[in-house]
Amino acid sequence: MRWISTFPPTATENGRSDLYLLLESSDERCRIDGSVTTSLGERGSLGLIIGFPPHYSLVSSWHEDRTEDAVVEEVKKMAGSPSVKAAPFTYASHALAVASAAMVLVWCVHFRGGLTFESSNKSLIFNIHPVLMLIGFIIIGSEAIMSYKTLPWNHEVNKIVHFTLHAIALVLGAVGIYAAFKFHNESGIDNLYSLHSWVGLGTISLYGIQWILGFVTFFFPGAPPALRGKSLPWHVLFGLFVYILAVATAELGFLEKLTFLESSGLYKYSLEAFLVNFTALIVIFLGASVVISVIAPAHADAPRGYSEISEN
Ligand code: HEM
Ligand code: HEM
Repeated sequence: MRWISTFPPTATENGRSDLYLLLESSDERCRIDGSVTTSLGERGSLGLIIGFPPHYSLVSSWHEDRTEDAVVEEVKKMAGSPSVKAAPFTYASHALAVASAAMVLVWCVHFRGGLTFESSNKSLIFNIHPVLMLIGFIIIGSEAIMSYKTLPWNHEVNKIVHFTLHAIALVLGAVGIYAAFKFHNESGIDNLYSLHSWVGLGTISLYGIQWILGFVTFFFPGAPPALRGKSLPWHVLFGLFVYILAVATAELGFLEKLTFLESSGLYKYSLEAFLVNFTALIVIFLGASVVISVIAPAHADAPRGYSEISEN
């Protein structure tokens, strides 16, 4: 981040004054919007926004008797100050991810007979679907989303991990959906008749669009810094929306499959039925904890970088 200058307050027509901090950053997380407003020329607030609401919004008050340097110092200090931490939620997410991955495997391998792409027993082809959708799409997608909070590297490296993991999630998700279609086609079952399948196709399509837009905006060729800053809140908002949609789709999938199994004879209070419902429950907790870890303003718990505001 490059410190350009600090503008002294200037009286405006309505008696308010503004103090503008001008910073330039190639890191799209740092947006200093110059939002310093003083009321009646007496005192005001100085805003430094790192990330974007609800990530961070730091405000300091400004008095006429305070020197510009004092205000700048205060903003620098605030930029490195601690805040609510996302870390506990990322640990919880990892644990929930491991638990739900183990549970879906036990279900599909132990209770449902295993997974394969080619078999005369078509149910084994179907079993690939929940495993890839949960482990490949949702869990790898969760880790991709949390990568900025969990990884120790710098922003650029984390970004590469972020979009690579999302690409892997996308590909595994597509293979998982292919398995569902293959199962239907080889078993003579209709395609795309359920709400689950419609929301599922919508989700993976939006995920693909989100990936492409993210890639061209933030990586290659990359939008100009100002546009990146403006689009980042949309990227996060839309990213979370698509992620929540994916979790909801998986819930519909678990519900639908268990209902099919129960209507073809599975005892409703069987161990398997409980396993499926508890897996779905854990996936809800996983989704919630990933979303909270994103919303929690956690950049402050990694002070690296923000005390670096300097002229260079
Ligand atoms: C985000 C994750 C998921 C997505 C995007 C997704 C997507 C899809 C799609 C597009 C189909 C339609 C296939 C066709 O019509 O031939 C389908 C079928 C199916 N999926 Fe999923 N799925 C997901 C997760 C799950 C999970 C975790 C289960 C749990 C068992 C599941 C169970 C089913 C079942 C039973 C079908 C066949 C019946 C139907 O078409 O609704 N899905 N899925
Ligand atoms: C479907 C794919 C994607 C989804 C669902 C997604 C979702 C998200 C979410 C939820 C965040 C907020 C993370 C946080 O602040 O803790 C985020 C941040 C970000 N994503 Fe993505 N993303 C996707 C693809 C991409 C791609 C392809 C790029 C290209 C480089 C990218 C670049 C970024 C950047 C630069 C941030 C800002 C991180 C920060 O605040 O430090 N994303 N993404």
